[in-house]
Amino acid sequence: MSQVLVASNRGPVSFSLADDGTLAPRRGGGGLVAGLAAVTEADRAPDGGQAPPDVLWVCAALGEGDRSAARRAPGGRLDLDGHDTGGAAVRMLDIPAATFHRAYNAVANSTLWFVHHLLYDTPRVPHFDARARRDWQSYEAYNAAFADALAGEAAPGAKAAVQDYHLSLAPRMLRDRRPDLRIVHFSHTPWASPEYYRLLPDDIGAAVLDGILGADHAGFLTDRWAAAFLDCCEQLLPGARVDRAARTVTRGGHVTRVGVHPLGVDGERLRARAAEPDVAERRRALREQVGDRRLIVRIDRTEPSKNIVRGLAAYREMLADHPEWHGRVVHLAFAYPSRYDLPEYREYTAAVRRLAGRIRDEYGTASWDPLILRVEDDLPRALAAYQVADVLVVNPIRDGMNLVAKEGPVVSERGCALVLSREAGAAAELAGDALTVNPYDVSQTAEALHQALLMPPDRRAERCARLAAAATALPPRRWFADQLAALD
Ligand code: F6P
Repeated sequence: MSQVLVASNRGPVSFSLADDGTLAPRRGGGGLVAGLAAVTEADRAPDGGQAPPDVLWVCAALGEGDRSAARRAPGGRLDLDGHDTGGAAVRMLDIPAATFHRAYNAVANSTLWFVHHLLYDTPRVPHFDARARRDWQSYEAYNAAFADALAGEAAPGAKAAVQDYHLSLAPRMLRDRRPDLRIVHFSHTPWASPEYYRLLPDDIGAAVLDGILGADHAGFLTDRWAAAFLDCCEQLLPGARVDRAARTVTRGGHVTRVGVHPLGVDGERLRARAAEPDVAERRRALREQVGDRRLIVRIDRTEPSKNIVRGLAAYREMLADHPEWHGRVVHLAFAYPSRYDLPEYREYTAAVRRLAGRIRDEYGTASWDPLILRVEDDLPRALAAYQVADVLVVNPIRDGMNLVAKEGPVVSERGCALVLSREAGAAAELAGDALTVNPYDVSQTAEALHQALLMPPDRRAERCARLAAAATALPPRRWFADQLAALD
């Protein structure tokens, strides 16, 4: 029985299954996992030893490799089966593949993610029909599987930290099963305004809000997302009473407090990782490739909300407007593959590749490659790119936080200029020292890239130092501890 439980779709480790049945582990990617792993990893535990033994991380099996690992482990406990989970106790749930697929791909990623990031092409989608209802039932079943697991593993009065839009129903379901528990839900995404949230079928929209209100505390990354959640509760959820000053929502006699916890990075841990030999090796290789040219860097998941196509278009426009940069700058665009089960993501990646090809055709010469695009997962190369970047561009359409905007300045060697979308949650903390842009305004972004390249080195270094300080203000351990403390 655990005193503290964490629940998230993705866990700290995932497995691929070889033909001979052997399992190859790889670390889970993305901001949520990076944050939670920094909380639970043994080497960084407060006593310098093991992670607190009573923290249990419950996650879903994402594919066949994971399912096989979960089945082989006693009670799904990967840590008890000799797997390296970074020191955390991890229970992986073997949810039936079809249920998982509909919950993760159809509801979480194609519906809730699209709503919160304003990604719909509304004349065509969304289209909520009978099939969408079946998908929704799978989402309910998936959430119920987490609620059952948490209810079964939690000690009396334990604290459960439920993460993200995949698990918006789980807090309510868990409260129904175990009223003695103290529950926090944390959203790593933006939250949609009521006008956009209303795209959801009324009952589904209400169920998501009501699910989160099953928690005692609902956490968000910025004031803006917290305020949008309160707006949705007030306008769209019958019977919900919102107190804006106190930041509470009362429904059915239960009070949920709403809090803002802007997740930052663990500077010490990140710098130590960036000091590893594999990063130095990648940095040497990059330098060999680009010489002493200026570098504009972007690191993303291949994700439509990251706005990679407009970012590349801005670089193209900058090259058109400022021929003085020809031969003197290289754009490194590193994207790691994500959610390829969804056609939108595959098509988006293809569009990124097409535009990158066009830029190379238009401007490339025998001695200058203006753009290097890589679509693969390579953490040491991403860290090397952060180190040598003159300019870091982070231009999402909308983003809960965006940890790239925080990691880059922390790892930068000489100080990088940050071109940052005003719609990234990180802008709430970093805008003062970044060049902020409207992510839809390609020309403005092109001009910001130009200005960032022109920024004098000492000014760039000063700004970057302040960005790094802001980025590390709330490291994952404190971010998590604050949420648990909010339950007392
Ligand atoms: O909430 C967003 C998030 O969980 C991020 O933390 C992470 O970058 C991303 O989604 C990962 O998505 P997925 O698990 O679908 O690859």
